[in-house]
Amino acid sequence: MKNIVILLCALFGLNRTVDANLRPGVLNGETGKEIVETIHGFQETDQQGEVVLLSSLKMDEALCTDRPMSNRSFGGQPILISGQKFESGLGTHARTVLWVNLQGGSQRFTAFVGIDDEVVPRIVRDELRSAFLKGYDEYKKINGRAVFQIYGDGKLLWKSQVMQAGMPAQKVEVDLSGVQTMVMITSSAADAVEFDHADWADAKFIVTGVKPIVIAPPKEEKFILTPKSSPKPQINGARVFGVRPGSPFLFTIAATGDRPMNFEAKKLPQGLKLDQATGQISGVLKTKGEWNVTLRATNSLGVTERILRIVCGNTLALTPPMGWNSWNVFSRSVNESHVRAAADAMVNSGLINHGWNYINIDDCWQIKHSSKDSMLVGKPRDENGMINTNKKFPDMKALCDYIHSKGLKAGIYSSPGLYTCQGHTGSYQYEGKDAQRYAEWGFDYLKYDWCYNQYSTKDVSLYEQRIPWATMAEALSRTKRDMVFSLSETLDVWPWAKETGANCWRTTGDITDTWASIDGIGFTQNGREIVAGPGHWNDCDMFVVGMMGGGKSPSRLTPNEQYTHISLWSLLASPMLIGCDMTKLDDFTLGLLTNDEVIEVNQDPLGKQAHRISKDENVEVWAKKMEDGTVAVGLFNRGEFANAVKVNWSQLGLNGTQTVRDLWRQKDVGNFSESYTASVARHGAMLIRLRPEGK
Ligand code: GLA
Repeated sequence: MKNIVILLCALFGLNRTVDANLRPGVLNGETGKEIVETIHGFQETDQQGEVVLLSSLKMDEALCTDRPMSNRSFGGQPILISGQKFESGLGTHARTVLWVNLQGGSQRFTAFVGIDDEVVPRIVRDELRSAFLKGYDEYKKINGRAVFQIYGDGKLLWKSQVMQAGMPAQKVEVDLSGVQTMVMITSSAADAVEFDHADWADAKFIVTGVKPIVIAPPKEEKFILTPKSSPKPQINGARVFGVRPGSPFLFTIAATGDRPMNFEAKKLPQGLKLDQATGQISGVLKTKGEWNVTLRATNSLGVTERILRIVCGNTLALTPPMGWNSWNVFSRSVNESHVRAAADAMVNSGLINHGWNYINIDDCWQIKHSSKDSMLVGKPRDENGMINTNKKFPDMKALCDYIHSKGLKAGIYSSPGLYTCQGHTGSYQYEGKDAQRYAEWGFDYLKYDWCYNQYSTKDVSLYEQRIPWATMAEALSRTKRDMVFSLSETLDVWPWAKETGANCWRTTGDITDTWASIDGIGFTQNGREIVAGPGHWNDCDMFVVGMMGGGKSPSRLTPNEQYTHISLWSLLASPMLIGCDMTKLDDFTLGLLTNDEVIEVNQDPLGKQAHRISKDENVEVWAKKMEDGTVAVGLFNRGEFANAVKVNWSQLGLNGTQTVRDLWRQKDVGNFSESYTASVARHGAMLIRLRPEGK
């Protein structure tokens, strides 16, 4: 209650400031704010030419997660900025980018920009749910704020101030004479895109020649940076592996190089055995302890060795989980053959040799009693309360055995509610039985997704909020199987998720294969590094590269955007779950997923998550320390045009000359005494690693 009062006071505080900027007018029922005038906008032209409204242009090529709204706010309401109503305009959700082909035909562009008033009540409503995490003042500072920019032929022509929910609209007036291509951007001013309902109100072109059209940005050809793996043996993947005493142990040595290959392991603790032909280590460790095992891989061309640290204790996922999940490609249609095929492809494509190992079934394997589909209906649970599968998954035990026989691990999905997000049986009040069932079947990973939650919490304290998650964590820990516990919750659970016993937790909504989504997720993770580390990771959601949409739709991300996606997720030490059709991996996608130097950044045993080192307009530098003292650095360009991105050693706390290694190309670039600058393509990335010269 106290929170509600504080929040409402805060809202009125906000309104008071707004009111001071307004002339008297009528009150708007929805926002409680005054409407001072309606801008009809068609009449004024002080320059000869035809008026073309921005809202009349076709938006098929708009770059955004959510399509802009014509003559409406993003939420479908009349456009309203700080009580000022506009007849026409475009309601967008940052981030939205429009490439507009003018061909020199437009003379002028005018508009009013601002955050639509519709977000003000929403901020309060949603805030009530997460009020226990942060005060309203902090929340409103980072939400409902956007910046508007206009570029002409690559040059910045106009930029708004930071527009915040409740601020009066800012007028835009841009001379476009001679401009061929205009780029209009609305982007989040702070970290989060939530509530950034950004209006280009009364937006119009004065046209004397050809009319403007929204076009796709320049096309990019695919380019493969990852060099081919050497035929000589090389051991890849995790260097540290956590297991609990008494649990079945399975670790497959990931190694590239020509086959046949022979594997050996020196100082393997008692209870474990190695299959010399496959590299699979299995068995059970009875007692807690740490062992440094020397792995050795030999083929006709050579031999290599590497240390694997085995830690038998309470903690799993000592490095971020790497694998595949069915959701992005098969969604509700997932069935057993999809999963078997994914396991086969994980091996046949060679991905297993780079450390990829989980094959995870997402939602829709359970009974859906409300369904009309005969494959999905049935008794949700048997007479003992044990969960049943639907007909798409006739034998889970056999499926898990199959996945394990390939040296891979199996993952499953549920929700703390009565139902999962797609309305299938959830785990509410059956947590213990479900955990037991997953263990009997042989699962190694559980994604637990916040939907239909029936838990009634007494208050918004951390203790109460963690109960649904902690209940399942405890149930899992009582089984005799190691199951990585992954929370899927789109609200901010990261500040306390570790306390529930989870190994990873989502920090974002659902990802899509758009730049707006990658940009909105990837670059908003700063600050969360404080909770990441071995056994507990922030999860930026699954990869959107390769063939998705049932295996029919290639990722809509450009090649550069895909390099940014993988580079950033590696730096952020996020779980890496491939989301595409594994049977349709092309060379470009394989290149993205098989770069051992990039994967090493993600799998580094120190377990640091990168944070932002610098940000300047559209360019950002993120970095993380690696266990060997080197530093992995991402140079990113979020802008629409190529940009120089610079990192100074002093920003990283480094002294002296550093050797810069380009991780995607797996090549040293040279020695640099103070800084390094790279030219980075539109939405592109360069991932480098710095080591003191001579080391
Ligand atoms: C939520 C999750 C997704 C997916 C679906 C399945 O939306 O965030 O990752 O698991 O549920 O229903």
